[in-house]
Amino acid sequence: MTKWTAKDIGDQRGRVAVVTGGNSGIGYVTALELARSGAQVVVAARSPERGSEAAARIRAEGVPGDAVFMKLDLADLASVRAFARTFQARFERLDLLINNAGVMATPQAQTADGFELQLGTNHFGHFALTGLLIERLIATPGSRVVTVSSMLHHQGTLNLGDLHGRVRGYDRWRSYNQSKLANLLFTFELNRRLAAAGAPTIAVAAHPGWSATNLQRHHRLTRMLGPFFAMRPTQGALPTLFAAVEASVTGGDFIGPDGWFESRGYPTHVEASAAARSQADATRLWRASVAAVGVDFAALDRPESEEPTNDRTKRRRKDRERATPRLRLPEALRTALEQIFGPSPRPQKVRVRVD
Ligand SMILES: NC(=O)c1ccc[n+]([C@@H]2O[C@H](COP(=O)([O-])OP(=O)(O)OC[C@H]3O[C@@H](n4cnc5c(N)ncnc54)[C@H](OP(=O)(O)O)[C@@H]3O)[C@@H](O)[C@H]2O)c1
Repeated sequence: MTKWTAKDIGDQRGRVAVVTGGNSGIGYVTALELARSGAQVVVAARSPERGSEAAARIRAEGVPGDAVFMKLDLADLASVRAFARTFQARFERLDLLINNAGVMATPQAQTADGFELQLGTNHFGHFALTGLLIERLIATPGSRVVTVSSMLHHQGTLNLGDLHGRVRGYDRWRSYNQSKLANLLFTFELNRRLAAAGAPTIAVAAHPGWSATNLQRHHRLTRMLGPFFAMRPTQGALPTLFAAVEASVTGGDFIGPDGWFESRGYPTHVEASAAARSQADATRLWRASVAAVGVDFAALDRPESEEPTNDRTKRRRKDRERATPRLRLPEALRTALEQIFGPSPRPQKVRVRVD
């Protein structure tokens, strides 16, 4: 089968894309390739220096599209609100919202609003951003929200009663894995709500496998092994780009690399964990997120937790589930991954009410 690459992106002229964390790693390549295909790209970055430098670098490639920097700090809801206001004043449409930015295995810290840093940046920040931009998205035919998760979501557990690790104590990997699980629960719930509202927008998730980027800055072993074993960001960005533009992608799809345990390769449809497909948890996380960030997606105004109304989406997912074996990590491989990425918690059967 032919391998999908950035050359397959297709004409993006006239389209507007926001790439969070578009100044570095996978986000930078995503922004560059979309601009190379003609899109007008907003490099949404927390550092004005790094953000404008990245946008200038993209423009200097002589791309047919454009790249502009706009400040966005996902770890500060005031910044997210300011970004959304400025974006809406400048742009009439939003074709692609790429929720890419992230931090991994950081020392314990809090966002400006008191959230645990990894969940606050990776999930709450993107949840608020998407909600604040939802009107532009649903007003744009064919628009997509692509949220970048990780293979490590398979190790994630959602602790709704203690999302910030205040009771159980902080564990940097438990927190990262939970945030990447949250990215998927958010994507699938958002897609259900978009479909129920009859919106022209779809929500899709992607994961890049293992790419050598700045993400590993807080973990020495992965940083040291990266240059030898990880893919370059040019390849790591392909699942995100595929999820953003490929015509065969439908709402609720999850795209990752097709190679060894999804750590490398070319984009294909991959399976999310059973925890990520839990509609009950997705609804609970949605409610907890609305309460936490104060953004309610009112424009969707849909009945609670409906199944997707798009029959084509449902049929395609069923076909794929029959064709694709579930990813089950053998114990030996899981141990090896834990040595690289750090220990991850075993799922615990704790039932906690959040309402
Ligand atoms: N690389 C991998 O192997 C891998 C594997 C699985 C999943 N992922 C996911 O891929 C995505 C991209 O990561 P990457 O590997 O490209 O890492 P990266 O090079 O470190 O890029 C992360 C981006 O997120 C930005 N960011 C961090 N905190 C932010 C905040 N508070 N507000 C706005 N932007 C913020 C960073 O900005 P600064 O430059 O200012 O720090 C940077 O632009 C992440 O969601 C990550 O979880 C990566």
